[in-house]
Amino acid sequence: METILKDKRIVLGVTGGIAAYKAADLASKLTQAGAVVKTIMSKNATHFVGPLTFKALTGQPVVTDLFASGSDGSIQHVSLAEEADLVVVAPATANILAKAAHGIADDALSTTLLAAQGPIVMVPAMNNHMWDNPATQANLQTLQERGVNILAPEVGRLACGSEQAVGRFPKTETILEYLKDFFATADILAGKTIIVTAGGTHEPIDAVRFIGNRSSGKMGYAIAGRAKACGAEVILISGPTNLRAPAGVRLIEVETALEMRQAVIDNLPGSAALIMAAAVADFRAASKTNGKIKKERMGDSITLELNPDILQEVAGHKDRGVIIGFAAESENIITHATSKLERKRLDLVVANDIGRSDAGFGSDFNLAVLIDHDGPQGELTMYRKSDLASEIIDWLARALGSDLHS
Ligand code: CTP
Repeated sequence: METILKDKRIVLGVTGGIAAYKAADLASKLTQAGAVVKTIMSKNATHFVGPLTFKALTGQPVVTDLFASGSDGSIQHVSLAEEADLVVVAPATANILAKAAHGIADDALSTTLLAAQGPIVMVPAMNNHMWDNPATQANLQTLQERGVNILAPEVGRLACGSEQAVGRFPKTETILEYLKDFFATADILAGKTIIVTAGGTHEPIDAVRFIGNRSSGKMGYAIAGRAKACGAEVILISGPTNLRAPAGVRLIEVETALEMRQAVIDNLPGSAALIMAAAVADFRAASKTNGKIKKERMGDSITLELNPDILQEVAGHKDRGVIIGFAAESENIITHATSKLERKRLDLVVANDIGRSDAGFGSDFNLAVLIDHDGPQGELTMYRKSDLASEIIDWLARALGSDLHS
């Protein structure tokens, strides 16, 4: 892990926030760790810290001009974008997030981001109101859906004077650890096909109504994105959601539990793992009415029948790989989830507490614990769904015998 940054070609994008001066420390530490760091600064960043600082700390040229050409005559923003192992934008202002989300390329850094072929990490830092603004949040979501990695800002004192507000640039050590982990896990699932199910299923009652549930799909999409970032071929089988599939995953859209079951079974041969994050409806209407049922008749017209349990069925399949299920529980979480692990013959169950309003369905958080056949792997913890996705994928990589490059 300590040598993981050696010889990595990193393009460091620095934009114009007060934290721009802290990027100099990051550039220095990355260089000391053996990375080749080429800095691209926005015009505003140069008001906070001079290009010479980065040039002296990295020993590499610094680009501030879209029309600069390299010593060999190459167009720099294109050649840097193509040769980089990673582009890191730190600090990333609300402005660069907006430009990147909308494909605007009006300076050297935004053009590099548009031309980048490899992974991108953004480390936003800004005033808390700018962070919370729906425009910024929508831009972050767009970027994440396209596979851009976001290291979320910390809560703390901000330069604008706000105390304990979100928007603070993380410590250099935190960013370094994140980048080391990024490189260390980039190929832990290489060559593996992982099936992830997500969202809730819709079970039609008639032409306009369905039985559904509150699942947003966020957990499954986060897992699919993380598995992809770790080098897996990802097949995402999704019920209806408002989310866009992460870049590079194969999306199979389904509506009902029966369609989801078929898609899982069709893709099982050759897959290394199945992660069932979907909230599959337990029941469906025994018969679907083609037209719209008159409300006076609704009361006596729906008979329910049980849907197949996809996990339980697949667990007995000869082509099965590692099987991971979820257990949504509201009481006796560990006991109930452990009995699901045994009963459904899973390799891992992710137990989550849905008895809270600040986590679970629809939220960005999950109060969860991983339970395998050695018992709970820690305490019930409040995870951001992206962090829980990383925990699950790390567990899976270990289960599949991958070396976590420790
Ligand atoms: N699941 C499934 N097929 C179903 C229902 C659920 O594969 N028909 C999967 C879910 O994707 C999840 C796991 O089973 O990974 C557990 O789902 P959960 O709703 O917690 O459990 P149930 O088995 O439905 O049990 P109960 O509702 O009684 O708690």
